[in-house]
Amino acid sequence: MGADGASSLREFVPDRIWLAEYGVRYAAMSLRARTTIVRLGNGDLFVHSPCPLNATLRSQLAGIGRVAHVVAPGTYHHLHGTAWMDAYPTAQLWLCPGLRAKRPKLPPGQELSDEPPAAWRSELDQVVIRGNRLLWEVVFVDHVSRTLIVTDSVELYGDATPDVPWMLRVWWYLFGMWNRPAPAPEYRFGWCDRKAARRSLQRVLKWDFDRIVLSHGDLIEHDGRACAAQAWRSLVGAVPGGGFARRRRARGAPGA
Ligand SMILES: [Fe+2]
Repeated sequence: MGADGASSLREFVPDRIWLAEYGVRYAAMSLRARTTIVRLGNGDLFVHSPCPLNATLRSQLAGIGRVAHVVAPGTYHHLHGTAWMDAYPTAQLWLCPGLRAKRPKLPPGQELSDEPPAAWRSELDQVVIRGNRLLWEVVFVDHVSRTLIVTDSVELYGDATPDVPWMLRVWWYLFGMWNRPAPAPEYRFGWCDRKAARRSLQRVLKWDFDRIVLSHGDLIEHDGRACAAQAWRSLVGAVPGGGFARRRRARGAPGA
């Protein structure tokens, strides 16, 4: 998987969450990915799924806080962690379970678990999504802004998504994922312990959130819990209240 330069930061939740987009190469396709930055109450920055660093980005970061936590939250979302640790050597690197074995040359870091560390425990919570043989991921919720932050466990591509490679468009149609929130195909084909997966996802669904920041595809700014429940319905069961696609349609969302 390769990568290209990151966009400027844009504020997503005022004074709380900023986003940057960047390109990745995966399965012979050029995809867009997203970095999420949460400014904690003490001004420390929590950097989720680090993107390529450049001078513009560093200048913007200096204006909003201190880079304190560099989080590689999934087994495919570690790409630029080393560059960030070189640039911000006082930061703490946090790794998804399984990453150290996959990438032993990553800088020293602490492994994430189901227990949030003291550094963000009063503001963010987290769950390791277990039960998959292809992907691991740690999902976070920001209680302050009621925002779920995911990498690959929910993706949303559809008519409103810019710059979708034709090959991905074809696959998503074939998988029934076009205009529908769903886990990445690797998740769908890799569940090996459905009970463990269900327990993880049910923990997430107990959180109170409305938005979802995804690493890939359209941001979800409302009805996030219903959206996540629909994405995971094959594991967690039916969606009370009709589901996300129906709500999108009622709003007149493109492709809903
Ligand atoms: Fe991803």
